[in-house]
Amino acid sequence: MDTSLALRRAFGKFATGIAVVTTSGEGDAPCGLTINSFSSVSLKPPLVLWSLTDSSPNLATFLNASHFAINILSGEQRAISDQFASKADDRFAGIDWFRGINGLPVIRNTIATFECRRTQTVNAGDHVVFFGLVEASEQCDLEPLLFFSGQYGTARLPPDPGAGPKTTSYADGYLLHLLATANEAVSVGFHSELSGGGISLSTWRILIALYPENRLNVGSLARMCLLKQPTLTRTLDRLERAGLVRRDHAAGDRRGVLVELTGQGREIAAGNMAKARQHEQEVLKHYSEAEIQDLKQKLRELPKRTQSG
Ligand SMILES: Cc1cc2nc3c(=O)[nH]c(=O)nc-3n(C[C@H](O)[C@H](O)[C@H](O)COP(=O)(O)O)c2cc1C
Repeated sequence: MDTSLALRRAFGKFATGIAVVTTSGEGDAPCGLTINSFSSVSLKPPLVLWSLTDSSPNLATFLNASHFAINILSGEQRAISDQFASKADDRFAGIDWFRGINGLPVIRNTIATFECRRTQTVNAGDHVVFFGLVEASEQCDLEPLLFFSGQYGTARLPPDPGAGPKTTSYADGYLLHLLATANEAVSVGFHSELSGGGISLSTWRILIALYPENRLNVGSLARMCLLKQPTLTRTLDRLERAGLVRRDHAAGDRRGVLVELTGQGREIAAGNMAKARQHEQEVLKHYSEAEIQDLKQKLRELPKRTQSG
């Protein structure tokens, strides 16, 4: 047998996980490829490595980038591995991903993510080895996608009764990160449903602030909806033209103008609120009523306590 084929086969006897390594290229274009050369290297400092063939058309992009992200795939993400190992023009097409820290493309629903600052590269034979310092990491207890002898496999985790998915992260104790992640997890599905129905986020905030019969001045409405005055004014102009809100222009200054829903506005708000309630129930279905009330109370208190001296 050809010795390099024999060696390739022997290398393949080392079972590995599979990851997609990503970075941002020119003009922030997301770039990524499937790898199994990932390895953890050191805990203190937290270092990882992976290697890229020196014939890769993406070599220059990774060499020019200061950061990369390692997305470790779950047993259900085989199609993602195939897509990122293919010659597809847009490997990110149809992939659920977002921008992490430093704008790195991060794939959702993986079993672990490491967002890294590149520290070193080493030319080694026909590959370039990239070392990275882990700046943020996340993991959860899903089953991994495996690669062995040129074939995909999965590993079944031993049952762990009573323990839900645990996550640990460098950013885990940081309040802003927790709030942003929770907000993203809770809102993403519903906001896309709203925009699918032609309702923007600012419209939605205005509708629920005024529902059912609140008459608010523009200043209070801006505060409640977390909207800047020009955005609020633009949205109100649109909603008034569509017959969903009514403005009482009699009041003196601009911020004093009173706003309320029309009958049609109330109807649209009510329809979407029913969907919002359904979505909330779905999101919180694993919480007890006491936990839900506790969570809401703590969130209500947070801005008040933060503001009080
Ligand atoms: C399971 C698996 C693991 C792979 N591991 C690596 C790797 O560690 N390094 C590498 O350079 N290519 C690896 N590849 C190959 C690349 O994903 C593939 O060649 C891809 O087309 C390379 O993209 P690019 O050369 O366009 O950047 C792997 C492919 C598969 C399917």
